[in-house]
Amino acid sequence: MNKRKLILLLSILFFSCNSYSHYDRGGMVSSANDLATRVGIDIIKKGGNAVDAAVGVGFALAVVYPQAGNIGGGGFMIIHLNNPDLKLNTSIDYREKAPLSSFKDMYLDDSGNVIDELSTTGSLAAGVPGSVAGMLYALEKYGTMNRKEILEYSVNIADTGFFIEEGLADALNSYQSEFMQFPGTMNTFGGKFKTGDRLVQKELANTLRRISEKGRDGFYRGETADKIVQLMKNTDGIISYEDLERYQPVERDVIKGTYRGYDIISMGPPSSGGISLIYLLNILENYDISKSGYNSSENIQIMTEAMRRVYADRSEFMGDADFVNVPIDKLTSKKYALSRIKDFKIDKAGNSSEINPGNPFANESEETTHYSIADGKGNLVSVTTTINDVFGNKQVVDGAGFFLNNEMDDFVSKPGVPNIYGLVGNEANAIQPEKRMLSSMTPTLVFKNGKPFLVTGSPGGGRIITTVLQNIVNLIDHNMTLKESIDAPRFHHQWLPDEIQIEKRLVSKEDDEKLTVLGYYLKGISDFGRVNAILINEDGTMEGHSDRRGYGSAIGF
Ligand code: GLY
Repeated sequence: MNKRKLILLLSILFFSCNSYSHYDRGGMVSSANDLATRVGIDIIKKGGNAVDAAVGVGFALAVVYPQAGNIGGGGFMIIHLNNPDLKLNTSIDYREKAPLSSFKDMYLDDSGNVIDELSTTGSLAAGVPGSVAGMLYALEKYGTMNRKEILEYSVNIADTGFFIEEGLADALNSYQSEFMQFPGTMNTFGGKFKTGDRLVQKELANTLRRISEKGRDGFYRGETADKIVQLMKNTDGIISYEDLERYQPVERDVIKGTYRGYDIISMGPPSSGGISLIYLLNILENYDISKSGYNSSENIQIMTEAMRRVYADRSEFMGDADFVNVPIDKLTSKKYALSRIKDFKIDKAGNSSEINPGNPFANESEETTHYSIADGKGNLVSVTTTINDVFGNKQVVDGAGFFLNNEMDDFVSKPGVPNIYGLVGNEANAIQPEKRMLSSMTPTLVFKNGKPFLVTGSPGGGRIITTVLQNIVNLIDHNMTLKESIDAPRFHHQWLPDEIQIEKRLVSKEDDEKLTVLGYYLKGISDFGRVNAILINEDGTMEGHSDRRGYGSAIGF
């Protein structure tokens, strides 16, 4: 397609995003950016399947949503394939890996204290990127279109430029002082931005062209690899040619559970997301949480106690299952969930200092992005992808135009010392060469009577799991519409710190007082999570919604 025609096509209605779309059967895409959503819809309209669209949206987000969309990070893709000759549920793990030269105490000084910012900013914060390998693996194995057709969209948008929206302009302006340490970043993203400015990214366009022409070799070898390794040499980083060459995505079994008759499919280790979500739902199934309102003190209390216990176990037992023994069966069993909530008392707040991790062996602010796709043929894709913090490690690879991640901060730098999400952890998530850092990303599919019901997921760091949880229970237990279930105010508890983090407008003054009297500490926080989801009705019609908290869009036809 002619480049100008494509940009014109995709820019139509740009300033009037559709955050909600309903009653469509042909296909639906919900993502954090309207242009990326339109790329996905265009691919489905051309006859591509949900996997083709997911890969097109993923590369497009790397151009139009540099806060989190990426080729310098990693992610997880859950696929439900409904082809006559191939029906399956699977997951692709393209999480970043610790470089070969990494080691357990690499972020500690001689006295054993964590060195400020070393795991969050600049070269040493970056894990070996997995996004390009993972997306191309998915496309080659489960897609129907060729790489060049899919990459054409992102190459053209980077090359010709696009009009930036308010969220990106604000984000770019507020990170200028951090960008200043990195010439490669200033080259593309330095300056003052306003809504409607055109952002052209020639270097990124060239990198994407190399991927389009050479596949994974266009990123992990040759010119792009040279630029990454050169940057590492110039800035005391450790990612080597060997790290890039050895990176492989892994296709893994999905994590499965049930909730009140619905089937849940989500992501397993190295994400804690799927295990934690199913563990939470298994606890909640023991209570009739539909009895009181979703924002009642009773409901918040029981959900908080479930979250406290699940996050305690997350900190102790979850890590990359290729390196440590994660007791998945036990943590996702209904029996274990019941045993963990037995000491819950309705007349008193729990106390995290008294709740220790169980014994299963006997036991992202908007730093990440999620998109959901349904293609109208019954194929579903749920993808959460990240460079961890907003704009990753803040360092654009010189001459290649993309941000590197700061995913190494998702490892435990030192037991008990919280990462940027306030999450603590232990040995299971210690740094080791080639290990994948523990994630909270929770790309999820829900089925009702064996038929697709929901495609969902969210950014939000450690709060991803509880955001997805509330989307599901709001739909199933509280009978909300898709839009209501996403836009409703949320809360979160993660064991430590021992506080209920709560969005404004969630609880009444009366319920706030009830919880406080019981001994809970409620801390008001700004909005979190940005769900992009699709609901499939029994008659096959679809509804899509992009969270009111973000600038995304859901479009169907
Ligand atoms: N970097 C956020 C996560 O993977 O959970």
